[in-house]
Amino acid sequence: MKLAIIGATGLVGRKMIEVVHQRNIPYTELILSASERSVNKVYTVNNHQVRILSVEEVIKLKPDVALFSAGAEASLQYAPIFAGQGCFVIDNSSAWRMNENIPLVVPEVNGSVLNIHSLIIANPNCSTIQLVVAAYPLHLRYGLKRMIISTYQSVSGTGMKGINQLFGERRQVNVEKVYPYPIDMNCLPHGGKFYDNGYTTEEIKLVEESRKIMNLPELEVSATVVRVPVVGGHSESVNLEFEKDIDMAEVTEILKNSAGIVVQDDPASNIYPMPLTSFDRDEVFVGRLRKDLYRNNGLNMWIVADNVRKGAATNAVQILEYLISNHIVDAGA
Ligand code: A2P
Repeated sequence: MKLAIIGATGLVGRKMIEVVHQRNIPYTELILSASERSVNKVYTVNNHQVRILSVEEVIKLKPDVALFSAGAEASLQYAPIFAGQGCFVIDNSSAWRMNENIPLVVPEVNGSVLNIHSLIIANPNCSTIQLVVAAYPLHLRYGLKRMIISTYQSVSGTGMKGINQLFGERRQVNVEKVYPYPIDMNCLPHGGKFYDNGYTTEEIKLVEESRKIMNLPELEVSATVVRVPVVGGHSESVNLEFEKDIDMAEVTEILKNSAGIVVQDDPASNIYPMPLTSFDRDEVFVGRLRKDLYRNNGLNMWIVADNVRKGAATNAVQILEYLISNHIVDAGA
């Protein structure tokens, strides 16, 4: 299996290289690519020197699988060319997510939609991934009716530019600003761009993507996205309303027994999920489980995950693992 990573020099691309090796993905050749300005740079991967190629050079090498994290524009331009050669593209950008012919996949939830025709596969938005991993197993038991979400998203969700602005402000050096206001010592209720209805692009991604992944087109979702001065790890305060009344002991059991979730919920010992303790972990952490004070069918919880790993690189690599283990991609192993 020839494996290409497009956008390999970016925050998520570099994490993809790391996760591919940590999870022992059985490639025969690793091909790295980025924009023209990085071509011919040499990266050391697993003690091997790998030269950064242009996307055109990669197309000629005919990879079997390509993990894309080079932005929506590059995905729109190149993913169809790769797919046209029979290459499976797993795309981290927003370019294809809401295209009805393209699967949008979180393997724990809807890996089963994938088949040999899924040549372009979309990797969801970071906040959506951790939300649906936690909400879906509860939906299967109680029937999800409504979700109200407030996010506390770290600056790494905006790539290196977000991290640079935060540290630039802390060190009082002049750096390119990616947010309209200071982010250090501040919170910005502003993710992406504003639509005319007052919601932001990041909020609408949570609405549309979670409906699509869980195959719940009627689900009511309300989201408020907030950027906070945290380097890595997104947190979410979530209120879920179900068709059926919930049982709190059973809720905890369901979450404990679901793939990809770690329950951290012991308030008496100050145990709850946090960005610092989720760093560099592939799981989704869930805690502060409380029944809604006024509804027996309502649940409050707090969800945290490493947005660069499970929210991006790890989920993409898990999609590849699904393709391999279901013999959709021949890894030659
Ligand atoms: P480069 O480093 O050469 O600019 P991030 O999301 O952290 O900003 O990273 C974006 C990644 O996508 C980088 O690896 C960047 O390469 C790459 N990239 C951006 N535009 C293109 C493009 N048109 N073709 C290929 N790679 C691109």
